[in-house]
Amino acid sequence: MQFTVAIDGPAAAGKGTISRAVAERFGFAHLDTGALYRAVGMKGGDPVEAARALSPEDLARDDLRTMEAGQAASKVAVIPEVRQALLDYQRDFARRAGGAVLDGRDIGTVICPDAEVKLFVTASAEVRAHRRWLEVGGEEAQVLAEVRARDERDMTRADAPLKPAADAVLIDTSGMSVEAAVAAACAEVLARL
Ligand code: C5P
Repeated sequence: MQFTVAIDGPAAAGKGTISRAVAERFGFAHLDTGALYRAVGMKGGDPVEAARALSPEDLARDDLRTMEAGQAASKVAVIPEVRQALLDYQRDFARRAGGAVLDGRDIGTVICPDAEVKLFVTASAEVRAHRRWLEVGGEEAQVLAEVRARDERDMTRADAPLKPAADAVLIDTSGMSVEAAVAAACAEVLARL
């Protein structure tokens, strides 16, 4: 069976948590596509070469979840050749047998426009910054500034900007518990299985 769930949205909206839960619930494989861009951003050197030569070791680095990696990712993610180099890997993953969940920024719009389920998971910038701050600590105002800077870069780039696909279901997690958000996402999958 081929069945693709595309989950897009801005930083810290809850995509990762929801994606992992949906994958586990339905026995689908899960690809965190942000990790690809984070690994490219942290590899240094020419980002296009880094994207073409991405290795399992690059994806296993311990520092991929840091704020620094997030900023580095969004900088290399504006480069069309970087996005192109990562395209086939993501598409192949999406069409593997047994079902797949991919989360990112352009899954429903560019990578898998024919995905069976498309979700756009969002929340206010303040709520997202607060969640990220609980994880990383430091100055909350600084975390909010970084979240806003990354939103701006992701939404205004020319190639594959962050935006909901026309046929995506919107889930605003601002006032939602994790359980409620996961339940809403699972209900969308169940309705189309
Ligand atoms: O989702 P995550 O926060 O790990 O993504 C890091 C950055 O990678 C994003 O801010 C975005 O610039 C880029 N990205 C992207 N397209 C994707 C996934 C991530 O441009 N599909």
